[in-house]
Amino acid sequence: MTTARAHTNIALIKYWGKRDSQLILPYTSSISMTLDEFYTDTQVVFDAALTADELYLDGTKRDVTKVATVLELVRQQAHESRFARVTSTNHVPETAGLASSASAFAALTMAASAAAGLKLSHTQLSRLARRGSGSASRSVDGGFVIWHRGTDDQSSFAEPIREQPTLPLAMVVVMVSGKKKSQTSRQGMAQTVATSPFYPAFVEQNQAAIEPMLHALATDDLATIGRLTEQSSFQMHAAIMAGNPPFSYFEPETLTAWHMVQTLRDQGIPAYATMDAGPNVKILTTQPHVDTILKALEPEFAGRLTVAHPGPAAQILSEE
Ligand code: DP6
Repeated sequence: MTTARAHTNIALIKYWGKRDSQLILPYTSSISMTLDEFYTDTQVVFDAALTADELYLDGTKRDVTKVATVLELVRQQAHESRFARVTSTNHVPETAGLASSASAFAALTMAASAAAGLKLSHTQLSRLARRGSGSASRSVDGGFVIWHRGTDDQSSFAEPIREQPTLPLAMVVVMVSGKKKSQTSRQGMAQTVATSPFYPAFVEQNQAAIEPMLHALATDDLATIGRLTEQSSFQMHAAIMAGNPPFSYFEPETLTAWHMVQTLRDQGIPAYATMDAGPNVKILTTQPHVDTILKALEPEFAGRLTVAHPGPAAQILSEE
């Protein structure tokens, strides 16, 4: 029985769209920040008494299909024939609304491979986590992480970026809505790839932003980090909206929060917004500006703000 913990991550340069949906190979590389505040703890036990894999999430039995995909790959690699019971707890404050497949599949991969007796490198863990959920490939590592798009299963993996920023970067998470998303990221990105005439432009621009972002992070160039972060998010959402049928993850309050970010910036505060497959807004800034940002957002979003910082790599918590 093995328990592992993995933290969620937010992409500064987004992953949106699969070139190979079975292997989960992305069209572009992506760069993320692993967050300290939000994580998943997952316990895996292979048990000869089980007749199928089982998943318990936050105390409730859930559909095991996606989890079983990763378990099956682990079984193949380890020559393990038993089914597994997976027990998982999400530590995401309700005010964050960040329930994420990234931390879930990174923790699952780490716990399942160890429980099956496999000794995998971080690269191998990242490739395996990728098969559960693309963004999970980046949650195997801490700090700032790049997922190389690669060309096949071997070459598509995430690792920490070589030159980490020394800036005290922070992310203010604004919870606009805790409601379940109207379209999962998996469905949403498939629709964008298949129908959006803006998708090829997104791919070109997003991939071209990778090198400048690495350089900006290495040189602590906050203005460039922020500009590239906002551009990747808005270009992704523009491509999503241009799909058929038209669709958006934004809610009215998403734009309210974004306008507040723009106003703060007009006042000289470094604050940059990024949104994923949901209406919540994540504001990238540095620690000295966090209080000013919280104060500005408080009137509209009281009780719905959480502050996160760069978090650690996935780790084994216990093995019995
Ligand atoms: C908008 O990793 O959830 O958060 O690979 O289909 O499981 P699947 O998708 P997922 O997509 C994340 C999309 C995103 C951007 C990002 O995290 O890079």
